[in-house]
Amino acid sequence: MKNKIYYGDNLDVLRRYIKDETVDLCYIDPPFNSKRNYNQIYNNVGTEDKAQAQAFIDTWTWDDDAIKGLGEIQSNYHGVFTEQSIDLITGLEKVLKKGALLAYLVSMTLRIAEIHWVLKPTGSFYFHCDPTASHYLKLVLDAIFCPKGGDFQNEISWCYGSGGASKKHYSKKHDVIFFYTKSDKYSFNVDDVREPYSSPHKSMTPKVVGDKSYVKMNPLGRIPFDWWQIPILTNSAKERMGYPTQKPEALLEVIIKASSNEGDTILDAYCGCGTTVAVAEKLKRNWIGIDITYQSISLILKRLAEQSKGALDNIDINGVPKDMDSAIALANNKDDRTRKEFEKWLVLTYSNNHAIINEKKGGDGGIDGIAYIPDRDETKKALFSVKSSKTLTPSMINELHGVVERDGAACGIFLCLYPAANLVKASKAFGVYHNDLINKDYPKIQVVCVDDIFNGKRLELPNVVKVLKKAEQHQEQLGIEALLG
Ligand SMILES: C[S@@+](CC[C@H](N)C(=O)[O-])C[C@H]1O[C@@H](n2cnc3c(N)ncnc32)[C@H](O)[C@@H]1O
Repeated sequence: MKNKIYYGDNLDVLRRYIKDETVDLCYIDPPFNSKRNYNQIYNNVGTEDKAQAQAFIDTWTWDDDAIKGLGEIQSNYHGVFTEQSIDLITGLEKVLKKGALLAYLVSMTLRIAEIHWVLKPTGSFYFHCDPTASHYLKLVLDAIFCPKGGDFQNEISWCYGSGGASKKHYSKKHDVIFFYTKSDKYSFNVDDVREPYSSPHKSMTPKVVGDKSYVKMNPLGRIPFDWWQIPILTNSAKERMGYPTQKPEALLEVIIKASSNEGDTILDAYCGCGTTVAVAEKLKRNWIGIDITYQSISLILKRLAEQSKGALDNIDINGVPKDMDSAIALANNKDDRTRKEFEKWLVLTYSNNHAIINEKKGGDGGIDGIAYIPDRDETKKALFSVKSSKTLTPSMINELHGVVERDGAACGIFLCLYPAANLVKASKAFGVYHNDLINKDYPKIQVVCVDDIFNGKRLELPNVVKVLKKAEQHQEQLGIEALLG
């Protein structure tokens, strides 16, 4: 089987593309980012803080999607919901009223119900969340799994020590991971995840948990507790991809080793920068990853390419524009939850996934992305500007050139949806940027249209790859807001 990446809303992908009863293990880590206090969330007081700099608007409001979703649950759309799920959501509507929390629970109910369908009868499901809404989510999960012969197996606390603290309450230092199975027949490879009896508090380190060589030395090893001490990823961690809500591979290693076997199919319907799929790949499982933002898709491709040679050869990538019609559709996508997806796709694809997306809105000369290129004495910047309009005037590249000069950047790359022969011609007037390191000239301003990209044109600048780590550090400095998941 080919591994699969889907770029799109997981509800749509689950409904249209993932066949029933084909998945052995599903792990999800959906976004739930509320900076408000719990009382405000519960009582629907105030508005969500829509952070400016993040890949996905992971705030919840009672909007058209929520209204549609509630209608689908209550009318038992395509018969996918259990009676208990319908009654539960109807009851919660009375208690919580139509606000952020109900919108979140409706969204989760829609998706978990679909996940339940695609799980094999022997399948397992892990839901990663935090204590803010975990008690409601357990009700949702019970109502989907238990009436159909499934069962709750564990509430796992993932405990960690780092991060901030408040003097007003105990430090919040754990996430919750619910483990459910679709029936009483399921894989649980306890011998693959045994841990040492000694030092229970320090035992769950990435080096030890699920390490087969360790287990062989300690066949009397203990069955892991339902609280796991696995360090949170630091910014300097080797596996760090620069994705704010990235989870440690060690966490997924335990889940995948315990609840699946080689050759099984693993699904992550909110796959972020691809922790689940990267671990599944290492452990010789087949996998399906879904995400709604192109940054995520781009990072997964980069991660897999770096992890193992040839990994990209065995992947089907779905939902990414492949022709002019789909590129135009993406440019006109009005989904409020995802911003600038066309710009992201274009910048990341043209730069072979090596540029950094500029999340700031306005005030920065219309720069949508930055790539870092090595020169003799310093690393220089290439600035990207994307335009999806049909009318393209030379003033647009003049403006880009102005920003390149202002910022002391090496060059500017103007990416456009529609052909722009007039701009290609005009861009020659800006001359070249000379890279001393490899003694080569590059156009100061390049104009590239979507058609060129479909014909395989990619950024030609020296060793952009090598300065990737630096670019990631810069991305973190930009202070991209944490997507708490
Ligand atoms: C908390 S992050 C997951 C992080 C991931 N576990 C990792 O280690 O990288 C949640 C992800 O869900 C994605 N997402 C949110 N809503 C989605 C939807 N409806 N369909 C698909 N992906 C979605 C976001 O783009 C984000 O990448």
